[in-house]
Amino acid sequence: MSFNIAIDGPAGAGKSTIAKKIAAKLSFIYVDTGAMYRAMGLHFLRKGIRPEDSAAIEAAALEADVTIGYENKEQQVYLNGENVTGFLRTEEVGNMASSVSVYPGVRRQLMALQKELAARQDVVMDGRDIGTAVLPQAQLKIYLTASSRVRALRRYQELKARGIDGSLEVIEADIIERDERDMTREISPLCKAEDAVEVDSSEMTIEQVVSTVIDLYRERSR
Ligand code: DC
Repeated sequence: MSFNIAIDGPAGAGKSTIAKKIAAKLSFIYVDTGAMYRAMGLHFLRKGIRPEDSAAIEAAALEADVTIGYENKEQQVYLNGENVTGFLRTEEVGNMASSVSVYPGVRRQLMALQKELAARQDVVMDGRDIGTAVLPQAQLKIYLTASSRVRALRRYQELKARGIDGSLEVIEADIIERDERDMTREISPLCKAEDAVEVDSSEMTIEQVVSTVIDLYRERSR
């Protein structure tokens, strides 16, 4: 049976950074489920569909075939055969992904793909509902958090490093709004699974978080 590590938490908590490092250390496959929701979001943005238009979203979701592959161990996301990885990490696409992730038609399709990937191989999968809905049988579940100010500061620095100037206040407000939407939606809201270990990374370095998770893995895989 494959070993599954589920990492959930709010936007900007450092899930993908941590999950990638853990996957590399353990030679597991890293699956970024947020990128799949972003690919769906991109599909609707390109079609000019508003996130409130539920009928149009549900219909267009049926025409979106989202798949993933790997190039040099980096996850690539394909939308109807086109590699869209380079278009996914913008605030516009992230907000659209968050808005449309409330629709059953969108979630059903992506969850089926996620479950299939984890059944076949050892994975570190990150998202919002991995421990609660996608892989409830995962052997290790982590709920990774950090204060909204720390998360905003990280995103601000990430943007700055890419030459993009942003306002810390605007970024923090955006993060709080996204948390609210992800935590209050009806289907698979972001919440800590009962058997997840909560790790608050506000005052921890990346390496400290990684070694905390690796230690937990070693305990569970004995
Ligand atoms: O982790 P991210 O910022 O790339 O995710 C973008 C949005 O996708 C997030 O705001 C909510 C949604 N999402 C989800 O509903 N379930 C997941 N497992 C992953 C992401």
